[in-house]
Amino acid sequence: MKIIIINGPNLNLLGIREPEIYGVENFEVFFDHLRVLFPNVTLHYFQSNHEGAIIDKLHETGFSYDGIILNAGAYTHTSIAISDAISAIESPVIEVHISNVYAREAYRHHSMLSAKCEGVIAGLGLRGYELAVQYFL
Ligand code: DQA
Repeated sequence: MKIIIINGPNLNLLGIREPEIYGVENFEVFFDHLRVLFPNVTLHYFQSNHEGAIIDKLHETGFSYDGIILNAGAYTHTSIAISDAISAIESPVIEVHISNVYAREAYRHHSMLSAKCEGVIAGLGLRGYELAVQYFL
């Protein structure tokens, strides 16, 4: 089973960025922990601050991976292009948010992506990525 986690803008700063919202854990450290938890899954990780790079990665993996876990960061709320990319590919996508976007500013309550995704996990911290892997399994 091949799964990729794709993280969008500003998520390279996890552990440093607004720790009261996103926690203190560095994503690379968490990702190593995920690999230990799921030794039989081929897990890949990609992060980019650029919309086009996220779309390229969805195209590249979206016809051969068993699952895509996508936290598109702020692009979640704005990107018709990422929404179209999810429609264009075959692999199922789970949308993940570390924070509970529904308990935050109103502009975070709407996702351009959710309707194209198999499901959404929000507000469970980094645990959301782990639950998404478990779902694909
Ligand atoms: C986020 C929520 C988004 O609203 C925000 O822009 C992010 C992170 C989350 O994981 O909680 O960058 O996707």
